[in-house]
Amino acid sequence: MSRTFFVTTALPYANGSFHVGHIMEYIQADIWVRFMRSQGHTVHFVGADDAHGAPIMLKAEKEGIAPEQLVARYAAERPQYLNGFHVQFDHWHSTHSPENVALSHDIYRRLRDAGLIDSRVIEQFYDPVKAMFLPDRYIQGTCPRCKSPEQNGDSCEVCGAVYAPTDLIEPKSTLTGATPVLRQSEHLFFKLSDPRCVAFLQEWTAGRNAQGTPHLQPEVFAKTREWLGEDGKLADWDISRDSPYFGIEIPDAPGKYFYVWLDAPVGYLASLSAYCAKQGLDMDTLLDPAGGTEQVHFIGKDIVYFHALFWPAMLHFSGRKTPDQINVHGFITVSGAKMSKSRGTGISPLRYLDTGMNPEWLRYYIAAKLNARVEDVDFNPEDFMARVNSDLVGKYVNIASRAAKFIHQHFEGELAVPDADFLAEVQAVAASVATAYETREYGRAIRETMALADRINQVFDTAQPWVMARSAAVDAVQREALHRVCSQAIAGFKALSVLLAPVLPALSARVARELFGLDRDFTWADATVASTRIATYQHLMQRVDAKQLDALFDTIPAAADAPPAAVAAPAAAPVAAAVPAVETVSDGALPGGEAIAPTITIDDFAKVDLRIARIVACDYVEGAKKLLRLTLDAGEGRHRNVFSGIRSAYEPAQLVGKLTVLVANLAPRTMKFGVSEGMVLAASHADEKANPGIYVLEPFPGAQPGMRVR
Ligand code: MSP
Ligand code: ZN
Repeated sequence: MSRTFFVTTALPYANGSFHVGHIMEYIQADIWVRFMRSQGHTVHFVGADDAHGAPIMLKAEKEGIAPEQLVARYAAERPQYLNGFHVQFDHWHSTHSPENVALSHDIYRRLRDAGLIDSRVIEQFYDPVKAMFLPDRYIQGTCPRCKSPEQNGDSCEVCGAVYAPTDLIEPKSTLTGATPVLRQSEHLFFKLSDPRCVAFLQEWTAGRNAQGTPHLQPEVFAKTREWLGEDGKLADWDISRDSPYFGIEIPDAPGKYFYVWLDAPVGYLASLSAYCAKQGLDMDTLLDPAGGTEQVHFIGKDIVYFHALFWPAMLHFSGRKTPDQINVHGFITVSGAKMSKSRGTGISPLRYLDTGMNPEWLRYYIAAKLNARVEDVDFNPEDFMARVNSDLVGKYVNIASRAAKFIHQHFEGELAVPDADFLAEVQAVAASVATAYETREYGRAIRETMALADRINQVFDTAQPWVMARSAAVDAVQREALHRVCSQAIAGFKALSVLLAPVLPALSARVARELFGLDRDFTWADATVASTRIATYQHLMQRVDAKQLDALFDTIPAAADAPPAAVAAPAAAPVAAAVPAVETVSDGALPGGEAIAPTITIDDFAKVDLRIARIVACDYVEGAKKLLRLTLDAGEGRHRNVFSGIRSAYEPAQLVGKLTVLVANLAPRTMKFGVSEGMVLAASHADEKANPGIYVLEPFPGAQPGMRVR
């Protein structure tokens, strides 16, 4: 029976680029979605950026831009990663959207009308300099137990003590260094201690969906029992924050905003709602609690509390459908080490793609290591190379490259009918692999698929078709045997391609179209449908080269270790090369319209301090037809103002958020419009009138503001 699914992944905070942990989650969900579709089910798969909260507000403020701009910058990057790894969301949205405001308001009003919202005055630390209430993470002080200095507001890293920020000795605001003061404020609470909530959560966390699958994995369920405690009660949940806050204003409480975790999961519905509008679907019908749509969330182990407790309660008590399955995965580590957000160690997804590594290698490797439990997954470079090279290239692709050759040389592409026994074996493997995919036992799906590949290779090797081929031209028996062995290997290759299609969507699409001549992608049933002919075999997949792995891991010189450019320097209004040509020859044959400048030494070049800078803002300059005013962040903890003569080539909006190269040690230059503190690099022809066009330099992805260009 055909099923309908509403599938999401966690909504990533819009204050950073995707790291490999995000990509792992998307790959896990994308494989599941593709598998379900291959079974003929309907899946609506949506994501969104989680745009709200104090960290995003403060980061934008630090860069001197509006939070909307910060969010837009990261939103603009998302497709590169998603397309790059073949992650196919039907729609990508934002929690900072009208749909999310409307839905969050609606849910809040219904909770309030159900008598589940309470208002209470609380005492909280307030930064008198910044004039804002401080989230715990922005308070540090001396541990009340072991007296270690500079401990966080919630717990001590040295002795492990857990406490309230008010217990800290000499607390300080990490934003301003000011001593925070206690202030009262009225907050709104979701009354999770209400007996109705207790009863609902006890039941829902232990419940199963209509398919009989538990809502939660066993270890996740066990965790919720711990949290719910003996009496099954949760503390009431503080859902409001005082202004200034980047979020959604609470309808009946002006100046108060929903805490980011209130409106974040509502973003799932907001994204679906925008998608439905685009597709002409009716969301209320789709999510009718009495209807059959299955709501499935893929999340990481760090955000279970919100998804297994708060979110179902929010949905249930606002009269909505509750989730059918919360699928929790562990974290990805790199060579056994945790990724650090600040140092960004590990593998950068963009670097992976830029290095020319095949995205399907990573999909395969991650799939091979994933199961349905909440276990961490380690990316180990040697293991990665061994798996991809031995399984994908050595076992899988190898079958086609070896068998197709004989089919062409001796049979003009025609295939013989495979044995019924063989097709029965494929059928059985396909059924088991299907169960494995559905239950997220991807490692098992891959193992069973590769065991089939092993058997296909063994039969092929034992038959020694290369020996048969020698006499096939003159010996009809050998010829028939050769045809049978190779055709069966090709039928096996087709089956493997179908079984691997959720993991290797691009490769399997090529196989379906190029080799088997279909005008569509494979569906699951194709696994046991023998084709009658194949086209010529085209090279399908490269092996992983150890050099690529080296390139992936070799450390970029750390920007933090290099001293920031000491003095700011001037900017020539017109854009010029860092080392201008001394002689300009008006010979059209010269590169770029000018002769190469006289030779300099490396020491001459080293005098020019070139730095990567982020264009955090860009504006027109009143009264200057040629100039744009750039606000640059070169990692110095301050911004630079630079005027650049590039107005004819760019709109400010095209430049905001981009990285470029700054001459960081040019003497500052006072201009009519202000002081210019440097110059950005751009290319242009010597004769700009005859050959217009200005091209600002942009580094490859991965470069960070402050890095030196040398
Ligand atoms: N914005 C919240 C989620 C709101 S959902 C309504 C958030 N964002 S996040 O960007 O920090 O994380 C997004 C997802 O990535 C989460 O599911 C998180 O568990 C996952 N991962 C973050 N680091 C990870 C790894 N190292 N490995 C695997 N997944 C990881 O939390
Ligand atoms: Zn301590």
